[in-house]
Amino acid sequence: MRAETLALHAGFDADPATKAVAVPIYQTAAYQFDTADQGAALFNLEEEGYRYSRIANPTVAVLEARVAALEGAAGALATASGQAALYYAFANVAHSCGKGAGRNIIATPQLYGTTHTLLHSVLPGQGITGRFAAGDGPEAIANCIDENTAAVFCETVGNPAGNVCDIEAIARVAHDHGVPLIVDNTVATPVLLKPADYGADIIVHSLTKFMGGHGSAMGGIVVDAGNFDWMANSDRFPQFTTPDHSYHGLVYAERFGRTAFIARARSVYQRTMGAILSPMSAFLLLQGIETVALRVERHVENGRRVAEFLRGDARVAWVNYAGFAESPYHALANKYLGGRPASLLTFGVKGGFQAGKDFYDALGLIKRLVNIGDAKSLACHPASTTHRQMPQAEQRKAGVTPETIRLSVGIEHSDDIIADLDQALAAAMRAQIKVAR
Ligand SMILES: Cc1ncc(COP(=O)(O)O)c(C=O)c1O
Repeated sequence: MRAETLALHAGFDADPATKAVAVPIYQTAAYQFDTADQGAALFNLEEEGYRYSRIANPTVAVLEARVAALEGAAGALATASGQAALYYAFANVAHSCGKGAGRNIIATPQLYGTTHTLLHSVLPGQGITGRFAAGDGPEAIANCIDENTAAVFCETVGNPAGNVCDIEAIARVAHDHGVPLIVDNTVATPVLLKPADYGADIIVHSLTKFMGGHGSAMGGIVVDAGNFDWMANSDRFPQFTTPDHSYHGLVYAERFGRTAFIARARSVYQRTMGAILSPMSAFLLLQGIETVALRVERHVENGRRVAEFLRGDARVAWVNYAGFAESPYHALANKYLGGRPASLLTFGVKGGFQAGKDFYDALGLIKRLVNIGDAKSLACHPASTTHRQMPQAEQRKAGVTPETIRLSVGIEHSDDIIADLDQALAAAMRAQIKVAR
């Protein structure tokens, strides 16, 4: 089935108890056992079912099944936010099983600011080093991999750089070295790109963005394509292939096969750290996902119109948009996004930092905030917000200059979005003339 259909139907038909066709919100912390033995079987992971909502919940399970289906994947684990999903994915893949040697994760430099901070400044304190490649090409990544590498990581479409990664080539490099490729597919969504089709092994999303689309619920998800062979790479990944003594000697790859990564993320990280998605948020995100394919179509169309308006305007210094033939990512956008670049674009107003600030302050319809992927158009000044914690040199590598404005183009009428940009550009120019006098 296609994304439009899966987004409405995957993972749920009707409630077996009531025949309700809306996904019920199972607002419960725990589930009754038939007997002590049945409870034990659930705890031993021998029987499928629910025991406690920190481990799994039926409403959240529908969301997990739906996103896994949209990604063409084997399984998923929903989390409280996109950052929690990234943390679980990195910790799960890089767990060193007490073998001493610190693990590293090789990442492209164009990342969302907080993900950069996680890899650069937080995980090293836990024995996991984020190592940043010089660029997002496969050679730059290959140059960084060594015997302690646990994974390669990139954003399929970088936020805010808008770079489109060559997933197939990067997956090949990772697999040649016996490590999985983890991607963040938040900006592209499975409507534009299914990374598993090109060899990505683990796919992470912030569901807070385009997937939910309404900006009223936070959430994240770790999705397992189910194709990485942990057993064949057992020396590097003993956490999946040798007995887990914290869980009755369970061997995840033996018991769970294609969903070993998700099973361990749930049993080890979700169970002990508990960054769970609430059933209410899962319900809200499912409501949003029902329309994701339609919304993304309109986002893409509006993004193109806005990019063309900005390129043709003398008050704008530069526009970074993979839909333009002159973009270094144009060919990759054609290959991976079917020529439909996401509606995330960056640009600079003529006059530099101050002009950018004046423009930003003059926006009316377009909201000044740090989210992306809402149905509403949103604007952000990354250097002072999302990427503030990064040194300026790192900001540049991530596609952020002091004047950069990031636009997440929404699904309003494109004429209204453009009218707001036009008046804000005019205000920025007026402010410059005033200063010059
Ligand atoms: C590409 C990307 N990944 C992950 C995240 C983190 O998601 P959340 O805000 O849901 O934790 C964001 C947030 O902006 C993002 O843009």
